[in-house]
Amino acid sequence: MVILLMLALGATILENNQLKQVIRDSGPQATFVRTTGLKRDIKFPWKGDDLWNIPYVWKEHVARVPPPTPVLFTDGRSPLSYPTQGLRVQPMKTLVIPGVKLEESGNDKNKFVIQLNAGLGVLTTLADVPGVAAEGVGSKHLTISSASLEHLNRQLQFLVYNNTHFDPDTVDYVAIQYLHYSGSIPIRIRHKTLPQMFPIVPDDITTKVTIVTKTFLRYDRLRQLIDSVRRFYPNITIIIADDSEHPEKVEGHNIEQYIMPYGKGWFAGRNLGVSQVTTPYFLWVDDDFVFTSRTKIELLLQVIETTNLDVVGGVVGKGRSRFRHKIRIDDGDELGDCLYRIRGSYHAVEGFPDCEVADMVTNFFLADTIKARRAGFDPRFTRIAHSEFFQDGLGELRVASCSHVRIDHDHGGRQQKYDKYRYMTRTSLIELYMSLLYKYNLKCLSY
Ligand SMILES: *[C@@H]1O[C@H](CO)[C@@H](O)[C@H](O)[C@H]1NC(C)=O
Ligand SMILES: *[C@@H]1O[C@H](CO)[C@@H](O)[C@H](O)[C@H]1NC(C)=O
Repeated sequence: MVILLMLALGATILENNQLKQVIRDSGPQATFVRTTGLKRDIKFPWKGDDLWNIPYVWKEHVARVPPPTPVLFTDGRSPLSYPTQGLRVQPMKTLVIPGVKLEESGNDKNKFVIQLNAGLGVLTTLADVPGVAAEGVGSKHLTISSASLEHLNRQLQFLVYNNTHFDPDTVDYVAIQYLHYSGSIPIRIRHKTLPQMFPIVPDDITTKVTIVTKTFLRYDRLRQLIDSVRRFYPNITIIIADDSEHPEKVEGHNIEQYIMPYGKGWFAGRNLGVSQVTTPYFLWVDDDFVFTSRTKIELLLQVIETTNLDVVGGVVGKGRSRFRHKIRIDDGDELGDCLYRIRGSYHAVEGFPDCEVADMVTNFFLADTIKARRAGFDPRFTRIAHSEFFQDGLGELRVASCSHVRIDHDHGGRQQKYDKYRYMTRTSLIELYMSLLYKYNLKCLSY
């Protein structure tokens, strides 16, 4: 089987000149050498080699990337003062542009002329100052001129930007010019974002946290989990996403079981479970976890409620090691970037010495429902999937790992049928790596 797989892979590779590479556990110093399809380059990580190649398939453009933010420069000799950051206006609303001023030294010129150009709105004045001429009021191009510097500057205090082109989130770079000096005033146009409130009762954890899990063929474990939860949290809602072939009904006080099509998979189940949460936070647990006296949700809640963190993980099992990683992305080339997963954390969370900021934590975590839903759980990852949530949420989710909250893990006797689905075969590991490379358009990956 393995031989056949190698041959199959080798055959594909020989037809492709461009390859993607997976480098495993090779650390941040790894260098990437793109090689062409030779069978001897195919090495499998589980055989102790750290490099293997998979054929590269050029993807049609699928990622929707926003245009890059322009780099703005200020001219060091310019006598113009103007705001360079922090101006915001709601779409179709107006804003007084503060801080525009001409600081010309000699007041000996016979006329001072300032020109302004807007792109997504029009420019007007709030008041007219005597001795100042304003041309193009109510249009995209406004020219303000005066023989008096003082009057001109007075007029510039009444400059109004009026957004006329609707966009819920963009930036208008208003150009400002005096003689050959020019600058750019960025005005952020953005809808006000509405807060999403949840009704809670102080000190009642059941109004704040829902427990979410996904099960597949392991009802003994699931019942053990539920019993352990009920010992400590008699009323907390438990949501179960279930994609077993022959689902068994799981009933009880505040238990919601959602039956899914058979074998829909890990992330599809997480998505479904999390989509049904009506509390501001949810606690993710696997179905073979067991609550103990050290599984204090309150402690994780305290961290998430008093910091700006969105996901706060605990420790699974009795061991001392914690699963927490940092992610580093290095610029690549037309074949994509390189993603490294590095063990460890960044720094301690202020006020919580047991917690450390990281990019990725274990699958026992308390999360902000709205933020976690935004990152989402990509249902394309069916079997082993965990890191992908954190990779999808990179740059959006603030994540930490805490050592003062633990949950037990019942490794128990493995079940043949379950293991067949759950645990990685060589083929499925290749599939996972390939899907990661393609999903994130990566050239290389270090896990
Ligand atoms: C903004 O522009 C719109 C459309 O031109 C106009 O109807 C509105 O009166 C302007 N508002 C201000 C305050 O100038
Ligand atoms: C659980 O709910 C029952 C009935 O609503 C209530 O009497 C009991 O006090 C609750 N227990 C806890 C620990 O909140």
